Amino acid sequence: MTTPAVQASITQLVGNTPLLRIRLFDERYPDLEIYAKAEWFNPGGSVKDRAALSMIEDGERRGRLTPDKVIIDSTSGNTGIAYALVGAAKGYRVRLVMPDNVSAERKQLVSAYGADVVLSDGMEGSDGAIRMVREMVSDDPDAYFYPDQYNNPANTLAHYHGTGREILEQTGGRLTHFVAGLGTTGTFVGTARRLKEHDPSIQTIGVQPDDAFHGLEGLKHLPSAIVPGIWDPGLADEVWGAPTEASYDLARAVASSEGVLVGHSCGAVLWAIEQLASEVHRGVVVTVFPDGGDRYLSTGLYRPRQ
Ligand SMILES: Cc1ncc(COP(=O)(O)O)c(C=O)c1O
Repeated sequence: MTTPAVQASITQLVGNTPLLRIRLFDERYPDLEIYAKAEWFNPGGSVKDRAALSMIEDGERRGRLTPDKVIIDSTSGNTGIAYALVGAAKGYRVRLVMPDNVSAERKQLVSAYGADVVLSDGMEGSDGAIRMVREMVSDDPDAYFYPDQYNNPANTLAHYHGTGREILEQTGGRLTHFVAGLGTTGTFVGTARRLKEHDPSIQTIGVQPDDAFHGLEGLKHLPSAIVPGIWDPGLADEVWGAPTEASYDLARAVASSEGVLVGHSCGAVLWAIEQLASEVHRGVVVTVFPDGGDRYLSTGLYRPRQ
């Protein structure tokens, strides 16, 4: 083990997350190795630090983000935390629109980083927040830098140059399957593109909620949502729909049996990996665990059962 180097800015700690061996299904499927990128090791606690830093630095390079502009976007929470952290580190103001039903921890976290929060109608979900940002930007276009994570290629590029490259290095390129949740789809698209360029035989499975009404914060039910502009269906060999309750059960299982405390969407990818395991029985599966479970305590995910 080498001692970590001194860093000039917190933003330099984004990416290069550990790859964890997950043993939840080992007894049933001894010939299947499962690994997960532990994305809560990013300084803002989620995978979205990668996308936010990439989009903000892309805006700086293109001259679209200047010190007078306010960074604005819609976010179910993690991207907001990431924008707020990167904005604070780089000296930008940040304004975030989020549905009023996102977890209390998330609203408090972005405020702690100094960002303004504007709440949209929770019944309209993440699409309602997107519509509200678009209105605010069209009312005052010069005031804002709108990274638009759903349509910004710099979101996917964070994963093409980061997550995907790291997975290839950490596994020596020996993975057979890649499984990831679909929100903006940046994680899946950027990583799958990198992996398939390396080895087109790697099978890719995108995971969305199985229904428009779901409890899998961070994921999008694509058939009923505004489809992100960066989504590339050609990179997905399969797209599966994960049920909320079964996903929660698997999040709880990996926390209590392995000490890996994860968020809702990690349960959803575990659900998909369990289905995959029952089909293929062997292989090397890599997934991305977007965030940790401490961010969801107020949602009841880990409330002790009576
Ligand atoms: C908890 C969680 N899981 C999964 C995702 C999906 O990642 P992506 O937006 O890259 O598709 C997000 C995105 O916000 C998230 O917050």
